[in-house]
Amino acid sequence: ACLVGSEMCIRDRAVGLRTTVLCLFQEGERVFGALGLASFSHPVPLDPESLAFLHLAKEAFAGWLFQTWHAEALMESFSRLLERLDLETEGHMRRVSQLAVGLGRWAGVKDLFGLRLGAYLHDLGKLAIPEEILHKEGPLVTREWKVMKTHPEVGYEVLAPVSFLPKTALDVVLYHHEHWDGTGYPRGLKGEEIPLAARVFAVVDVWDALRSKRPYKPALPPEEAKELLRKEAGRKLEPRLVEGFLALLEEGALDEEPRKR
Ligand code: C2E
Ligand code: SIN
Ligand code: SIN
Ligand code: FE
Ligand code: FE
Repeated sequence: ACLVGSEMCIRDRAVGLRTTVLCLFQEGERVFGALGLASFSHPVPLDPESLAFLHLAKEAFAGWLFQTWHAEALMESFSRLLERLDLETEGHMRRVSQLAVGLGRWAGVKDLFGLRLGAYLHDLGKLAIPEEILHKEGPLVTREWKVMKTHPEVGYEVLAPVSFLPKTALDVVLYHHEHWDGTGYPRGLKGEEIPLAARVFAVVDVWDALRSKRPYKPALPPEEAKELLRKEAGRKLEPRLVEGFLALLEEGALDEEPRKR
């Protein structure tokens, strides 16, 4: 439905609005959003033709909104699946997504939505890693490392056909274990060869791994985790991003969620 009005006031003060159009997004009876359009300088004639055009624009926008929401819902159920399988601890993926978007915005990543989806999906490939390696309590031996290191590529292969996934999300999945100094996997990319979103995500992933309990290591308190993160600047991680991340943490700008364990 589109409501068309004119000569609107806000709090009794004339704001020079000439024409307003309010499009409601509905699924059956339920209104789930609205698009407001207004012209200030001169009235816009709303002939049947422009109304038909508005209707088309509205449909396209509603379709996009819906797709975005479906992607969100998929991410949520996917992270629950991983939690149920004990591949990820409670809230890990929601937490890394929030932190990644915070750092990504600071670093100038354009596709924050893609970064967020990638953060949710980064370890999907771990589903293909045998239980005894994944939950091993000690360090991995060479043969086990070889298997573990396949997880970014496995995840990428599984996700590549999903048409709504932006390239940024796939970059994060495939390249989240590349190192700034070129010693990472799967490709051994170096420095800015690694897509920005993957460089951003790597900082957050290492931070969260340090702060969380893993089968092979205890959770570290914040000060120790910061210390170790700093040591990775210039090695695994891009120095500028480590500095930025630590500064954002100090400012409380990242709003880290409390963790359960
Ligand atoms: P993860 O546990 O999510 O760790 C993600 C990344 O955080 C690691 O990537 C590493 O770069 C960093 N990280 C984690 N813990 C530490 C730490 O104690 N010190 C430092 N400096 N960095 C740390 P990485 O190394 O490529 O490992 C990928 C995945 O392989 C890990 O994901 C984990 O699932 C597994 N893994 C790594 N090391 C071990 C291990 O010693 N034993 C077992 N069972 N699994 C391991
Ligand atoms: C971006 O800013 O989101 C893409 C740039 C890059 O991946 O290097
Ligand atoms: C934003 O928070 O600016 C949009 C990125 C997202 O979907 O989280
Ligand atoms: Fe990983
Ligand atoms: Fe992870």
